[in-house]
Amino acid sequence: MKIAFCCTNTKAEPWLEGLRAHLPGHDIWEWQPAQPSQPIALADHAVVWAPPQAFIDEQTQLQNLFNIGAGVDALLQLQLPSTLRIVRLNDAGMAQQMAEYVCHAVIRYFRALDGYEADTQDMRWSFRKPAIRSDFSVGILGAGILGTRVAQALRYFEFPVQVWSRSPKHMEGVQSFTGAQQLPAFLKSTRVLVNLLPLTVETENILNRHHLEQLLPGAYLINVARGRHLVDQDLIDLLDNGHMAGATLDVFRTEPLPPSHAFWQHPQITVTPHTSARTLRDESIAQITGKIKALERGEEIWGRVDLVRGY
Ligand code: NAP
Ligand code: GLV
Repeated sequence: MKIAFCCTNTKAEPWLEGLRAHLPGHDIWEWQPAQPSQPIALADHAVVWAPPQAFIDEQTQLQNLFNIGAGVDALLQLQLPSTLRIVRLNDAGMAQQMAEYVCHAVIRYFRALDGYEADTQDMRWSFRKPAIRSDFSVGILGAGILGTRVAQALRYFEFPVQVWSRSPKHMEGVQSFTGAQQLPAFLKSTRVLVNLLPLTVETENILNRHHLEQLLPGAYLINVARGRHLVDQDLIDLLDNGHMAGATLDVFRTEPLPPSHAFWQHPQITVTPHTSARTLRDESIAQITGKIKALERGEEIWGRVDLVRGY
């Protein structure tokens, strides 16, 4: 089998070494744009992150595209042949990282650590009124691989947790809401909103004024999915008018976040550089090569993207 590696902003060599170690006897190379005089090597599978359209157009024999991330929104912007299978990463070490990140952000707000950080700057020794846990309900948009793990981790700290997804979920101690009809009831009973939805035509701009206004007063937003879920100015307006108390944002419409963007300077916004759940190389290589071996044995694999749903 022939495998091309085409990942923007990723050093290829360690990935190639790892892929070759797991798949001896396979021909594995880093894709480069073709030179006019050179023959084109055609691959059966590709390991990709945000490949250029030229890669897809050139690689006419591809059967499977293995995305080295959970979100496939960038990939689905391309013109893809209908016969091509898109395979996403399933967890591969991301769920634990996401649970750590979200629990940290929720607990930081619950324990007023954001306020104490500000007090430290002013060398102020003062106590803040403890929040009541039952008032601190966490609502998670998206209850897939990452949302489920985050919900379980938050339950460990005994926060009230509810999830919103397309299909109903059955998790101990977690209330499940589904579909557009149940979104208002979910939002009305949420204090901390965590976004873990895929970016699709249905979910783009879902974090808008109309929805954020329905959250409990003094709400917080933790956006760890995609920047295009959020209408930036609506969040700023709701923080400035006092309806919302804070936001932790890991993803942005433009990344890196431009220096002139208002989020950098806003006192109630914490910015991190798309780092809540990183792709872990060894875990990802083990998962992708495991799936390639399974396909070669004629078995079905986990993580095939449904192109109609968009995730
Ligand atoms: P997933 O397993 O595919 O889960 C997606 C969840 O969203 C599912 O529960 C799905 O509902 C729900 N959903 C999708 N469309 C919906 C809609 N229109 N209405 C209601 N619910 C909807 O994905 P995942 O692995 O948890 O990852 C989620 C996203 O996290 C990725 O797509 C990516 O954008 C983001 N991410 C970010 C980072 C980071 O570092 N910031 C890292 C990894 C991933 P059903 O269960 O009913 O299908
Ligand atoms: C990262 O954002 C991913 O989708 O894996």
